[in-house]
Amino acid sequence: MSVKRVTFASKIGVVAAAAGSAVGLGNIWRFPSQTADGGGAIFILVYIGCILFFGIPLMVSEFLVGRASRANAAGAYHKLSPGTPWKWVGRLGVLTGFVIMGFYMVVCGWTLVYLIQSLSGHLSGVTDFAANFAVLQGDPVKQTVWMILFTLLTTFFILSGVKKGIEQSAKILMPLLFLLLIVLAVRAVTLDGALPGINFLLKPDLSHVKSTLFLDAMGQAFFSLSLGMGCMITYGSYFRDRTPLLKTSVQVAVLDTLVAVLAGMVIFPSAFALTAHPETIVSDLVAGGPGLLFITLPELFNQMPGSMIWSTLFFCLLALAALTSTISLMEVVTVYIHEEYHIPRRISALFVTAGIIILGVFSSLSAPFFNILDIASAKFMLPIGGLFISLFVGWHLDRRLIFVQLSSGGTLKPGILFMKTYIFLLRYVAPIAILAIFIYGLAW
Ligand code: TRP
Repeated sequence: MSVKRVTFASKIGVVAAAAGSAVGLGNIWRFPSQTADGGGAIFILVYIGCILFFGIPLMVSEFLVGRASRANAAGAYHKLSPGTPWKWVGRLGVLTGFVIMGFYMVVCGWTLVYLIQSLSGHLSGVTDFAANFAVLQGDPVKQTVWMILFTLLTTFFILSGVKKGIEQSAKILMPLLFLLLIVLAVRAVTLDGALPGINFLLKPDLSHVKSTLFLDAMGQAFFSLSLGMGCMITYGSYFRDRTPLLKTSVQVAVLDTLVAVLAGMVIFPSAFALTAHPETIVSDLVAGGPGLLFITLPELFNQMPGSMIWSTLFFCLLALAALTSTISLMEVVTVYIHEEYHIPRRISALFVTAGIIILGVFSSLSAPFFNILDIASAKFMLPIGGLFISLFVGWHLDRRLIFVQLSSGGTLKPGILFMKTYIFLLRYVAPIAILAIFIYGLAW
């Protein structure tokens, strides 16, 4: 029995959908707060190292497993290695997807709240932005309502089908968001007093190094590239046979990293330039944590003529970038339930929606719960998933199958050196690095 699965229609659609999954709140909200916590430039360096040494190889691997199996995150292992426990890696991924959505949707809700505040003109009248954010944090009902709305919006796109929903939206919105970030970064770095903020981003300062630096940077790399839970397996399963896997992975990783660094270029110069207390700025940044984006950016908009227009445009695009990420997360879990348990796609999406809302309510009510979901998924579940996928492709999967996938149905000729490097990275470098980072991070 072979059910014909959908594939992405156009070439740009493939990259756009994968990039749409990768680029999201992870880049614009989580990356700056992790960078603040991790001491600035040094965090970014380690982060980029993680992208190169295991981010890109693992993304190629997820795409490869997805396209070779044309199945969901767990079904893929089952198809490529029937009767083995590898499918548990896929199941762990599906669980991770739930955990991520359980707190991510809350932040998506915040972006909607800020979008409404911008549109209504409320935001440009605010004088104390930290207090404005604290009011939202202290209002679980409001957070819950907007979290539920965002979840339902995602469900709507999931039900409207893979091609129309994901591909079309990502193609137009990504470039727009990118342009807007460039404009904002230019405004931010030309503020009076922006220089220390630029230095914080570009000049490594060893005095801020934390013992969990590597664990934090690794977690952020997995989170930002949507790796370690089978999201890219699911998207890879929709790729066409000729889509080049390495090239697509590099493009997605470059775009994703550019957006994150650009977001830093907007947030840090603004934070340093606009703070009333430069002496305590670094500790303020760290303490600002999850609120950094929602406190610093509105301050920057207020420095710009037509602040209402800028902030509306920004929060609108941010919500849409978040939407292409939540769509990818919900897709993984929905198609898993649909294919593995033979439940209609529609019903399966509704189950998933209910599950997310339950977790989301707890995250809205309790900041510690929110943090546990964030830490458990980014720092533990995703890297463990990544560890197993590197072992699966590096040690278990048939080399010929890997070769066929990397040559994209014979249209490319991966050289022997390239193949050897790729396998070496997956067999040794990625697993050992991930394990070492765990052990080091936990030993403290
Ligand atoms: N990468 C997205 C972001 O940066 C979030 C995301 C989407 C994700 N799908 C994922 C994270 C799968 C981990 C795994 O916002």
